[in-house]
Amino acid sequence: MQKDFSFKYEVFAGINELNKEDKDLLEKARINTKSAYAPYSNFHVSAVALLDNGETVSATNQENASYPVAICAERTLLGAVSSLQPDKLIKTIAISYDNKNGESIKPITPCGICRQSLVEYENRFQQNIKIIMSGLEGEVLVVENAHQLLPFSFSSDDMKVATIQK
Ligand code: THU
Repeated sequence: MQKDFSFKYEVFAGINELNKEDKDLLEKARINTKSAYAPYSNFHVSAVALLDNGETVSATNQENASYPVAICAERTLLGAVSSLQPDKLIKTIAISYDNKNGESIKPITPCGICRQSLVEYENRFQQNIKIIMSGLEGEVLVVENAHQLLPFSFSSDDMKVATIQK
């Protein structure tokens, strides 16, 4: 038996097509790329969360001379929100980047590890996180939740099943 998987995402030609709330958040994310610490890749990534109380929390990628130590902007952000505002829900995250070695036009999409972290956050708080993805200019992609980006994701539920079967 073959099954199909599909997911929905929206494509906007530019930031001005977004509603005001999303536009403000993406603008913040674009400006916040200046705070990245990315001297090795020169790829400055920023992620900004809009919380359910209207506040925003901003984060960037943090690299290290020992390359694998680097942490992506998305996971820096989740750690910051979870530590600073543990009782607030994340409504939306906007992600952007400044590629100092080239253009910043193609929308950024989170790496695999960050997708797994985003999914865990959604599971933990039982709340969809809308993800807005873009460069410093150009097209904007939007998904309604992180699960859309990671089909067949691994979660604590999978471990429960394994335990019961023993
Ligand atoms: N990076 C992020 O911060 N987020 C992503 O979604 C993709 C990659 C960072 C990690 C590293 O510091 C640099 O970008 C190049 O991979």
